[in-house]
Amino acid sequence: MKTRVLKVDAAKPDAAVIEEAAAALRAGQLVVFPTETVYGLGAHALDPAAVQKIFVAKDRPANDPLIVHIAHIGQVGQCAVGMPAGARKLALSFWAGPLTLILKKKPEVPDAVTAGLDSVALRVPSHRVARALMEMAALPIAAPSANRFSRPSPTTAQHVLDDLDGRVNLILDGGPTDIGLESTIVDFTVDPPVLRRPGGLTLEQVQSLVPEVTLQVGQTSADEPQAAPGQLTRHYAPSATLTLYEGSPERVVAQIAADTRTAVAQGNRVGILAPEDDLKALAPHIAPSAASGKVEVQPYGSRADVERGGRELFAAIRALDATGVSMIFASTPGSDGLARAIRDRLVRAAEGRIRTIV
Ligand code: TXA
Ligand code: MG
Repeated sequence: MKTRVLKVDAAKPDAAVIEEAAAALRAGQLVVFPTETVYGLGAHALDPAAVQKIFVAKDRPANDPLIVHIAHIGQVGQCAVGMPAGARKLALSFWAGPLTLILKKKPEVPDAVTAGLDSVALRVPSHRVARALMEMAALPIAAPSANRFSRPSPTTAQHVLDDLDGRVNLILDGGPTDIGLESTIVDFTVDPPVLRRPGGLTLEQVQSLVPEVTLQVGQTSADEPQAAPGQLTRHYAPSATLTLYEGSPERVVAQIAADTRTAVAQGNRVGILAPEDDLKALAPHIAPSAASGKVEVQPYGSRADVERGGRELFAAIRALDATGVSMIFASTPGSDGLARAIRDRLVRAAEGRIRTIV
């Protein structure tokens, strides 16, 4: 399959381009489009054969259900049965935006979309290209993040090409995405509702409207339907072994410096993934190792600018991975607000290698 890439102005999408993409979706083809979180790999959500192609293109296990993207809250009834008051409240405030709601599904939604679950994940994206596409196609669009399985989510069209060239029909290139982290998923099929994936909308924002929402980010095994979303351990794993360091910034920096010197002395090539301020503090301590060419540093945002950190995180992981380092030492700008989502992605990438330094 030849993959076509069409540039599209994120501020004012060209109607001819959107019409072409909408026609491709209606014809059962795969179309990658930008959202405000990450790029999505879209297919006609009510066409099981089209949905099936998503799993093939991504190498995604069939037991990992997809998010259905709709144009506005009025379309919830096409896919879901009812909407609890809390879900409605969140939707009215935070749609269009980085919020996904899990609701009881309607039979019309194919099992391929929901991995046989009796619930469906729904989201209204705010990105102009995504909105124009949904309006023009007049369809709900099933779309996971447009990465190969176990690769970081794509925040640029180039990331998508790196993973999916030859596997999708069309990529709409609307430039880098705004938030850079996936949507926050809140499950309203249970009472009280549960936040299953921290993302672009913070737990604090969710609880400000629906205080009974609890945080429950669990781990499930690879062979059961994923009640807890995106929870496969390998989900965000880079090929290098990533270790996450937590504690006071000073101690984290000191420990990463010490471990970098040791690892380099043992012949390893090391990548360091950290907010700019941490890297600045680290620089004098790792100067000799860095001079040996055995250390790659990769900033993402800063402790003061966590939003930029969110925007840059996945690109930073991809860039470090591309250098071929065998180990990555990482730190986060915190653990609440938007940093909770950043930390969540790094915890997954670390597959349990977390060093808490007290
Ligand atoms: O920001 C986003 O949410 C992006 C953009 C493209 O919208 N999409 C995205 O999709 O991150 P994906 O497939 O990478 O992650 C969706 C997660 C999956 O891990 C899946 O397990 C979970 O949502 N999910 C989908 N339907 C579900 C359901 N019925 N019950 C529980 N979890 C569900
Ligand atoms: Mg994904």
